[in-house]
Amino acid sequence: MATPRCELKHKMSSLVHTETSLSDKMTDSWELDLIKLSQEAMGKAYCPYSKFPVGAALLTTDGKVFTGCNVENACSNLGLCAERVAVNKAVSEGYRNFKAIAVCSEVVDTYITPCGGCRQVLLEFGQTWIVLMSKPDLSYEKRTVVDLIPMPFVLKIRD
Ligand code: THU
Repeated sequence: MATPRCELKHKMSSLVHTETSLSDKMTDSWELDLIKLSQEAMGKAYCPYSKFPVGAALLTTDGKVFTGCNVENACSNLGLCAERVAVNKAVSEGYRNFKAIAVCSEVVDTYITPCGGCRQVLLEFGQTWIVLMSKPDLSYEKRTVVDLIPMPFVLKIRD
């Protein structure tokens, strides 16, 4: 398995949050660390068309972080959101259990929220893990995946 890009220094095991919080403003340092990593990733955004850079940092349950940025294309439907880049990097390296994803943009007056498609992609890997939606000043809103996509579509496979 390839070495993940970075690893959080803090011990993560005691920091699992499964509550469906409406607005949890706690500032655990790992949450801020994850947001900072998303901001670093945003610096790599390829967004010549929208000029709207987005960054994401995805934390696995065993403390690995995979980052992503949006990667646009002249054929606009081929563009990728930052969240999906991070998820695809993690899954393709063998990681499917996630604790949290931080998302950032340059917008100062509202928290960046994942698009509908990305919400469904996050849902694929669980309903109760955490989404941190941030502003450049590191303030953030914290929700679970299912908070962001209520009444989720889950495929029932026939036996
Ligand atoms: N974008 C993301 O990367 N994540 C989101 O959740 C919302 C939108 C990107 C896609 C596109 O490159 C740009 O932002 C403008 O929509």
